[in-house]
Amino acid sequence: MTWTVTGAAGMLGQDLVAAARAQGHEVVAVDRDELDITDAAAVMDMLGEPGSSDVVINVAAWTQVDSAEEREPMAFTLNAVGPQNLAAACARSGARLVQISTDYVFPGDGAEPYGENDLLAPLGAYGRTKAAGEWAVRSSGADWLIVRTAWLYGEHGTPFPKTMGRLLRERGHVDVVTDQVGQPTWTVDLTDLILRLLAANAPSGAYHGTSSGQCSWYEFTRAIAVSLGLDPEDTVGRTTAAAFKRPAPRPAYSVLGHDALAAIGVAPIGDWRERWEAAAPAIVGETA
Ligand SMILES: NC(=O)c1ccc[n+]([C@@H]2O[C@H](COP(=O)([O-])OP(=O)(O)OC[C@H]3O[C@@H](n4cnc5c(N)ncnc54)[C@H](OP(=O)(O)O)[C@@H]3O)[C@@H](O)[C@H]2O)c1
Repeated sequence: MTWTVTGAAGMLGQDLVAAARAQGHEVVAVDRDELDITDAAAVMDMLGEPGSSDVVINVAAWTQVDSAEEREPMAFTLNAVGPQNLAAACARSGARLVQISTDYVFPGDGAEPYGENDLLAPLGAYGRTKAAGEWAVRSSGADWLIVRTAWLYGEHGTPFPKTMGRLLRERGHVDVVTDQVGQPTWTVDLTDLILRLLAANAPSGAYHGTSSGQCSWYEFTRAIAVSLGLDPEDTVGRTTAAAFKRPAPRPAYSVLGHDALAAIGVAPIGDWRERWEAAAPAIVGETA
C-alpha cells in the first residue's frame, strides 16, 4: 500500500508522515515544491493513474484565518480547488482521499456539539473556502473521508500553546478570552485517529477529529501555565472576544460531537486536559 501525503511539511503533515511510516506504510511525502495541489495537471499526472497511490491524505491548506479575509480568492484556490484536483485524480485512480477540514465550517452559535452532518454555515472566508473544499470532495465520485479538526497544536509549528508559553515566560501575565469555547487537539492524537480510521476501513463520510470535552481559551491557557510550573491565578487573566478584536470572525462555540466515530466503533480522542498533560513536554518544554 502506497500512501501520499500532500502538504507534508506542515504542522500536522510532519507528525502524520512519521506515524504512518512508523506503522510500516510506504509514504510519499510531498509539499508545495514537489506537488502544488492547485496545479490540476500536475496532480492528475502524479496521482491520476490506477496504482499510483492507494491513499491520499491532503494536509495542504491555507490556514491563516485572518489573512484569508483579504485574500479569499487565493485561499479558495488552495482550500477548495486543491481538494477538487486531488479528488478528481483519486476518482480516476481509485485511491481513497482523506481531506482534513475544520470547525470553522460551522457558525459557532450553537449550544450542543455540532454533528458531522449539521448544516455548514461558516462565519468567514477561511471557513467558506474549507466548506467549499469539503463539497468538492463529496461531489467528486472519489472514495473520501473528511476529518474535521480544531484548535490544533503540534511540535512542528507555532500553535496557540507555544505562543502562550512564550508570552507567559516573557511577560509573566496574559489576558485570554473566556467566551470562545472549543477542543484543543494534539497533532499526534489526530494522526493516530486518522490511522485508526483508515485501518478500520471507515465508511465514506465526515468524522470529527478533536479531543473530547471542551474549554475556553482562558481555561486552556491556565492548563498551559500549570505545565510551565506557573500559578494560573497570578499569570492568566480574563478578557472577551469583543475586547480582543481580530480581522476574521471566530466561532464562539466550536465543540464538535463524535457520534460518527461511535457508530463505527472507533474511539474518539481523549479528554483535552489529559491529552494536553501528555503533550505539554513536547510542545512547551519544561513542565512542572
Ligand atoms: N492549525 C489549526 O489550528 C487547524 C484547525 C482546524 C483545522 N486545521 C486544518 O488542519 C490541516 C493541517 O493544518 P496545519 O496547521 O498542519 O497546516 P500548516 O502547518 O499550515 O501546513 C500546510 C502545509 O501546506 C503547504 N502548502 C501550501 N500551499 C500549498 C500548495 N499549493 N500545494 C501543496 N502544499 C501547499 C504549506 O507549505 P508552506 O508552508 O510553504 O505554505 C504547509 O507545509 C489543514 O487542512 C487545516 O485547515 C488546522
